[in-house]
Amino acid sequence: MTSTTHVAPATSTSEDSDTGQALDIWGLNIGYGAGPDVVSDVNLRVAEGEIVGIIGESGCGKSSVGLALLGLLPAAARTEAYRLRVAGKDLVGLGERELARIRGNDVSMIFQEPMSALNPVIRIGDQISEVLLLHGERDKRRAAARALELLTMVQVPEPELRMRQYPHQMSGGMRQRVMIAIAMAANPRLLVADEPTTALDVTVQAQILALLTQLRDKTGMGMVLISHDLGVIASTCDRVAVMYAGQIVEEGTPKQVMENPAHPYTRGLLASIPRRTHAAGTDLPAIIGGIRPEDRALPGCRFAARCPMAEQRCLQPQHLLDAETPGHTARCVLSTRGLVTEDRS
Ligand SMILES: Nc1ncnc2c1ncn2[C@@H]1O[C@H](COP(=O)(O)OP(=O)(O)OP(=O)(O)O)[C@@H](O)[C@H]1O
Ligand SMILES: [Mg+2]
Repeated sequence: MTSTTHVAPATSTSEDSDTGQALDIWGLNIGYGAGPDVVSDVNLRVAEGEIVGIIGESGCGKSSVGLALLGLLPAAARTEAYRLRVAGKDLVGLGERELARIRGNDVSMIFQEPMSALNPVIRIGDQISEVLLLHGERDKRRAAARALELLTMVQVPEPELRMRQYPHQMSGGMRQRVMIAIAMAANPRLLVADEPTTALDVTVQAQILALLTQLRDKTGMGMVLISHDLGVIASTCDRVAVMYAGQIVEEGTPKQVMENPAHPYTRGLLASIPRRTHAAGTDLPAIIGGIRPEDRALPGCRFAARCPMAEQRCLQPQHLLDAETPGHTARCVLSTRGLVTEDRS
């Protein structure tokens, strides 16, 4: 069971053109139970062939956004959006059957831990074939031949041998390649990759990121790459959205965001890099404290309580504002004066 996304139709008509868009989200809110929304007013577009990163510390809402793109949030989740469109198809208001059709065909997802998504007692070749048979292939031999092609496409060495192996006979990196093969089976227009390399060592991580980039080049699909690692985002993404406490607080190219960060939170995130001892699910060492649930309900800047530069007007509602260069935005009043971009440390 998954939750249904609701929409306010009166406002869903503006900026309606989504030609060439693999993803078009506008006004996405997500909540669990009675607490404040864990994702608030997220707008995000991914063009075909574009890789857009989402970065932010644990609990800021990255995976919730990713799951919403596949209609995979738990049934108890509240989801609202003015627009939630994947490959031109609106997910808003769709039931589970329609979502299932879009999932795997138009949009696929890969996760941090491939072992948990693979069946330990079924051979790799059969697991990939099974997905192909689910998505319309009728002939088992043709499915097996296509499974071999997919394994070759994701650059698994000795693919014939690997077809007959079980998941435990493969390394973590090889298992992630298998998951990517499964995700690519129906030639999706959007791939959501949620921390796809976090569980892998650095060399293998670089290989998987290179593979994802090659697949994007080859197929022209769009990609959302979720990561807490700025290095991963910088090496792979065309654009990056920085999330804090459920909101996008800064957006731009990795160069804009990393060389000239406009939001104090992004500056804190960058300051944490030389001391990269944190892993997924831990706090960022350079920023004092963590996201408190009550911060998500604040009308003003949600980072204000942790921000070294906060002043009275930060308690007013904040909007994404243009930073210094086109295509670079930040949800910080101070960034408009250029105050945040100069180094005060
Ligand atoms: N199924 C759920 N039920 C209730 N709360 C949830 C559920 N899933 C996530 N949350 C809460 O929603 C918030 C956002 O979680 P989410 O998993 O989207 O964050 P994240 O940015 O992906 O974090 P991480 O980096 O640790 O993966 C967190 O406060 C989390 O505790
Ligand atoms: Mg997550």
